[in-house]
Amino acid sequence: MKFLSRFTPLQIAIHIYAWSALVWIVFELLIGSFSINPIQELEQRTGRHAITLLVLSLLCTPLNSIFRWSEPLKRRRTLGLYAFLYATIHVIIFVDLDYGLAWSQIAQTIFQKPYIIVGAISFLLLIPLAITSFDIWKIRLGKNWKRLHRLVYLIAPLAVLHYIWSKKGDLLTFSGDIVRPVIYGLILALFLIVRIPAVRKFLASLSTGRLLLFPQKNQSPAQRDPQTGD
Ligand code: HEM
Repeated sequence: MKFLSRFTPLQIAIHIYAWSALVWIVFELLIGSFSINPIQELEQRTGRHAITLLVLSLLCTPLNSIFRWSEPLKRRRTLGLYAFLYATIHVIIFVDLDYGLAWSQIAQTIFQKPYIIVGAISFLLLIPLAITSFDIWKIRLGKNWKRLHRLVYLIAPLAVLHYIWSKKGDLLTFSGDIVRPVIYGLILALFLIVRIPAVRKFLASLSTGRLLLFPQKNQSPAQRDPQTGD
C-alpha cells in the first residue's frame, strides 16, 4: 500500500494499461485464442497499442492548455516510451516471426509496400526520441532537445498514415476497415489543431472561465509545457 501511494492515479492507469495489454496478448497466445493467422494478429494488436499510446502522449499538452491540468505533461515520457516499446515489439514480430529475418525478402517487401516504408520512417524517427527522452539528454542537448522532440508531430501523422494505408476500405464512403484508422487520424488532427498558438490562446482564455477544472493561481515552471514553455 505504501508503495502504491507513491504513484498518482494517472500514473497507475498508464502502467496498468500498458502492461495489461501485453500480459493479455501473451495469455491469449498461451491459451491459443488467437485467429487462424496469429502472426498477423500479433502485428496488428501491437501496432494498435503503439499508435494508441503515441496519440495519447499528444493529448497531454491539450489537457494542460484546456483544463490547466499539469500532471499529464509529466506523464508524456512514460506514454512515449511505452509507445516505443510496442512499436519495437511490432517491428520484431514483422522481421522475425513474419519474415524469419530473411533480410533480402524484408527489403523487397518494404519497397513493394509503401505503407511499410512510411511505418519504417516513423519507427526510425522514434528511436532518437526514445533514447533522448531521459533528463540527462535534456541537459546535454539544451535547446536542441525541444527541436528534436518536435519530431513527434511528424512521427504520429506518419504512423496514422501507415495505419490507414495498411487497411482496405473506401475513404470517400468511409466504409470497410478504414473507419478505425480514420478516427485515429481525426483525433490526431484535433490534438494538433489544439497546438496552434491562436487556438491555444482561445482555449486558455476559456479555461480561465468555466472550463477550469484544476485551478492554479500561477503555473510554476515545472507545470509548464517543457516543449513550449507555455
Ligand atoms: C519498421 C517499421 C514498421 C513495420 C515493418 C511495420 C509493419 C506493419 C505491417 C506488416 C502491418 C500490417 C499487418 C497486417 O494487417 O497484415 C502493420 C500494421 C500496423 N502498424 Fe506497423 N510497422 C512499422 C511501424 C509502425 C509504427 C512505428 C507504428 C505505430 C507507432 C505502427 C502501427 C501499425 C498499426 C496501427 C497497424 C495496423 C493494425 C491493424 O491492422 O489494426 N507500425 N505494420
